Amino acid sequence: MDVLINVFLALHIIGIAALLGGFLGQTKAMGAGEATVTPGMLHGAGTMLITGLALVGLNQADDQEVNNTKIAVKLAILVAILVLVYVKRGEKVPPPIFGAIGLLTAANIFIATLW
Ligand code: HEM
Repeated sequence: MDVLINVFLALHIIGIAALLGGFLGQTKAMGAGEATVTPGMLHGAGTMLITGLALVGLNQADDQEVNNTKIAVKLAILVAILVLVYVKRGEKVPPPIFGAIGLLTAANIFIATLW
């Protein structure tokens, strides 16, 4: 079970890379109001949801403690990210909205690691 949990954790991290990498690669374009939500960002956010839910299930099945409050907060933040990247997919996004996607993603990373 440990191997399976670690495989899903690795996929969870690949999802972060796709979402945050898509954001960071466009910070210059964001300054010019030219940033777009790329397919990689949308797929990264979807990957976060699927692998996150799988991690909760696998940890519970393995009798490992899961911090439900932390997960609920991370899930709420990811739902906000998913709505933004889905609604704005393929479009030029105004800097405050594009910036919010990056900030919310970074917030979830700090919540995951510091809480
Ligand atoms: C943008 C969204 C998200 C980001 C950036 C993120 C980030 C991370 C990171 C960096 C880790 C590894 C750190 C650690 O194991 O302590 C992690 C683990 C984990 N994540 Fe996420 N996550 C996100 C969304 C979610 C969602 C939506 C769920 C569940 C519905 C979830 C469930 C988990 C679980 C169960 C673990 C492993 C156990 C734990 O430490 O809490 N994550 N996440």
